[in-house]
Amino acid sequence: MSPLLPSRPVSDVVRVLFGREDIRRRIEELGRTITGDYEGRAPVLISVLKGGSVFLADLFRQIRLPVSIDYMSISRYGGATESLGRVRIVKDLDEDIGGRHVLIVEDVVDTGLTLSYLISVLESRHPASVEVCALLDKSARRITPLPLRYVGFDCPDVFVVGYGLDFQERFRNVPDILAVQDVAALAAEPDLLVPYLARAAPPPPPSDPPEDAEA
Ligand code: IMP
Repeated sequence: MSPLLPSRPVSDVVRVLFGREDIRRRIEELGRTITGDYEGRAPVLISVLKGGSVFLADLFRQIRLPVSIDYMSISRYGGATESLGRVRIVKDLDEDIGGRHVLIVEDVVDTGLTLSYLISVLESRHPASVEVCALLDKSARRITPLPLRYVGFDCPDVFVVGYGLDFQERFRNVPDILAVQDVAALAAEPDLLVPYLARAAPPPPPSDPPEDAEA
């Protein structure tokens, strides 16, 4: 048997929480809303490496404004599936954000500790505004109250993988967002997620019949 084939049913351990088509549609909506809200301005979108990079890449192509992008890298101290909020800037922005409209593009806001640290760092640089666009909002786990101007999806209190989010630095390239229902089982057998890398897209919904079709 191939060493990549899981030895137990994948569905015990993970399930698809948000499929790629739902993600694509929601990002189109967010792009339209952001385009309207920032009309006449040229915001800078800031992504926190590495998880937010996939979301940023898709989101900023849906914004019909002359945006720029920049990246920060932060190191967190905590376990593989816990974010404890103790953070340090590893890579800073390339651009000066003084006087700019800043939109932080985050993959998932969990306790909110990382983001509140980031917002305080960015606000100290005197931007014109700082707002947040989070793909996933795990609001049930929030420790620090945070104003999230744009949210893709409300996310249950479960560890998620895929679409930029990793499990032990792997599986960011899974096209869907998976909920890990049994983190211990996945830790024991991380290759359980390999089939999801190649999982075919679900078939598109049937198209509407032409208007003059007989009932
Ligand atoms: P917070 O400081 O607790 O809000 O943590 C936010 C960061 O922790 C995110 O930007 C992610 O990098 C990471 N994180 C939180 N929850 C998850 C998850 O379910 N899967 C993968 N990474 C996560």
